[in-house]
Amino acid sequence: AKITSVKALADLPGLSSIPTTYSIQSTPNIVNEEAVSDATESIPTIDFSLLTSTNPEERYKAIQELGKACEDWGFFVVTNHGVVESTMKGMIEACRAFFELTEEEKKEYEGKSVVDPIRFGTSTAPGDKVLFWRDYLKVLLHPSFNSPNKPPTFREFALEYGKGARYVAREIVRGICDSLGLEEDYIDKAFNLDNGVQRMVANFYPPCPQPELAMGLPPHSDHALLTLLIQNGIGGLQVEHEGKWININPIPNTFLANIGDFIQILSNGKYKSILHRAVVNSRDTRISIAIPHGPAIDAVVSPASKLIDPVCNPPIYRAVKYKEYLELNQSNTLDGKSCLEHIR
Ligand code: SIN
Ligand code: FE2
Repeated sequence: AKITSVKALADLPGLSSIPTTYSIQSTPNIVNEEAVSDATESIPTIDFSLLTSTNPEERYKAIQELGKACEDWGFFVVTNHGVVESTMKGMIEACRAFFELTEEEKKEYEGKSVVDPIRFGTSTAPGDKVLFWRDYLKVLLHPSFNSPNKPPTFREFALEYGKGARYVAREIVRGICDSLGLEEDYIDKAFNLDNGVQRMVANFYPPCPQPELAMGLPPHSDHALLTLLIQNGIGGLQVEHEGKWININPIPNTFLANIGDFIQILSNGKYKSILHRAVVNSRDTRISIAIPHGPAIDAVVSPASKLIDPVCNPPIYRAVKYKEYLELNQSNTLDGKSCLEHIR
């Protein structure tokens, strides 16, 4: 039978090597060089309860820390966020159950176009020179809510989890505005976050017999404002920091947040949307769920006028419609580079 997913391939009895189509050896920009060992300890932590505190001193301090995290790392751990553990775990298990459906059942959700609200697929863009060791399920949760019908638990967890993540993302975005010296609701208003696009991306990375030759997800930056990530307890995410790849191990009950391209554009490069990638391993199935939180689909993003100066700090990015940027992001074979290069 035709192999339609990486899971089906990995499930083949006795698979001991990967098909050459999955080997990154032929792609000079995607190299599986050794990561600097675990730096999970050093990435910044933002206590969400302090960020949303009604005590002005506590909030002020949290905002300062948030700004520093966005400038220095572009990645941070979010604790005390209020989304209950059973909802996070339930969401991950519902995604696992989806990927464990038969190939026939999953095929029903193979989207035809990048705008389809539910899309199951494997690898990444069709133009890719190499296949990646990853199956995915993308589900649009907001402004219109969608859910696959199987497994039956998916809908309720997606509703609950989506709502929780949206609230957390929106509050962090308010904090980011504050830290930049903008009105707290600048992004809310300018990009119409009431209709903000929230598309869940569930990633499934089965065990790989030759992990050093394969890649789960190639280096990329995220397109939206802010991404929130959860994982099933198995590491694999690496982020680029000061020119090196760094392993970020999962911390139970937290979100890993990262700045997306639109915050980099809005802040005129002050806050960084940094490259990250996912490597695979030979032992465990890894599941991650990333939710990039974006502006409304027709919002236009450009550097905030308050943050630029025609002489000292001219805008380095042109204005771009979210829809246009998404298409750019999906259609280009970025080859391990950030999509931001295209709108300078
Ligand atoms: C992503 O970048 O969208 C997900 C990376 C991961 O699997 O941790
Ligand atoms: Fe990402």
